[in-house]
Amino acid sequence: MAALTDRFGRVHDYLRISVTDRCNLRCLYCMPEEGVKFEPAENLLSYDQITEVVRAGAKMGITKLRITGGEPLVRPGLAGLIGQLSSIPGIRDISLTTNGVLLADQAEALRAAGLNRVNISLDTLDPARFKFIARRGDLQRVMQGIEMAVKVGFAPIKLNCVLLKGVNEDEIASFLRMAAEQPLHVRFIEYMPIGHADDNWRNHYLPLSRVLEIASDIGLEAEPISDVLGNGPSEDYRIAGGKGTFGLIHPISDQFCKRCNRLRLTADGNIKPCLYWVDELNVKPALGNPDELEKLYMRAMDIKPLNHEMAEKLAGGDQSHEPTARRMSQIGG
Ligand code: GTP
Ligand code: 5AD
Ligand code: SF4
Repeated sequence: MAALTDRFGRVHDYLRISVTDRCNLRCLYCMPEEGVKFEPAENLLSYDQITEVVRAGAKMGITKLRITGGEPLVRPGLAGLIGQLSSIPGIRDISLTTNGVLLADQAEALRAAGLNRVNISLDTLDPARFKFIARRGDLQRVMQGIEMAVKVGFAPIKLNCVLLKGVNEDEIASFLRMAAEQPLHVRFIEYMPIGHADDNWRNHYLPLSRVLEIASDIGLEAEPISDVLGNGPSEDYRIAGGKGTFGLIHPISDQFCKRCNRLRLTADGNIKPCLYWVDELNVKPALGNPDELEKLYMRAMDIKPLNHEMAEKLAGGDQSHEPTARRMSQIGG
């Protein structure tokens, strides 16, 4: 049996590593405009410490890594970390989730260091709306980042579009056409009420069944496929006659926890067995001691919950366990 098998038989081979809780944007669904209390630099794991935690994980079956933030590209020297991680025996896929603003400048160095893939957040194709959703930065820089990602040869390139009712749902058709016309993988994501849950989340929540309805309305024929390279929860589709593909990530309307294969490492050094719940294991006391790190990974398997309760909890379900107080930017999605 694989070492990282939890109580429900799920095998874990994917580690999402947050390298910073800071971000150069303030997206509506992720961080308040004024920001949050950021971790002082001395609380963050160093790149050497992250490498040590990954090395212990790789011995236990972790083969795929994703670098997240906040916005990972705001932490200096990230290509150096990628270089260190790519030389760990057993690591086969290293990818990055970024808002794209700094990508044009760094894509080449990241690629040279061994990064395999990038997922880029893109919630709108309209510059004014970008200012409304992201509150900082500008769309043109993100588009330049996407162009550069294509140029340096990352593949597949995925675009993450969080759908918000009343904000960008009118762009679903444009994003679908983009997937039909360009060799990109566009993913629509249901808004998740993480860390800042209140009853208003339903005002912005849009179930993804709308995407398939709109594809059909605009005459695109979507067929489920399973050959898009990826480790996450996306359900993917090909568009008949199209150059690209699209995917749906629907934690609320069709929970995917039964297929969960991932652990998280927060920037301040905690293994997080599940995105949703408060439980975390601090790696700092175990650094320098491979046996203790191994025990922490095993403990993560013991305490990993079966699933999240994003919708149930907010509707007043069982309140005896605590959801995380971290915001998405402090976990890395
Ligand atoms: P691929 O390897 O390319 O499939 O990446 P991914 O989908 O795992 O990573 P990405 O960072 O692009 O995440 C896309 C969306 O999926 C984000 O909104 C994440 O928050 C969400 N997501 C990823 N993993 C989980 C998870 O374990 N639970 C939940 N609820 N959402 C997740
Ligand atoms: N709900 C759904 N997706 C989110 N992301 C950030 N916050 C949320 C949220 N509340 C997405 C970002 C990024 C990925 C890591 O997570 O758009 O692409
Ligand atoms: Fe896994 Fe938790 Fe995400 Fe469900 S919510 S897929 S159990 S990390």
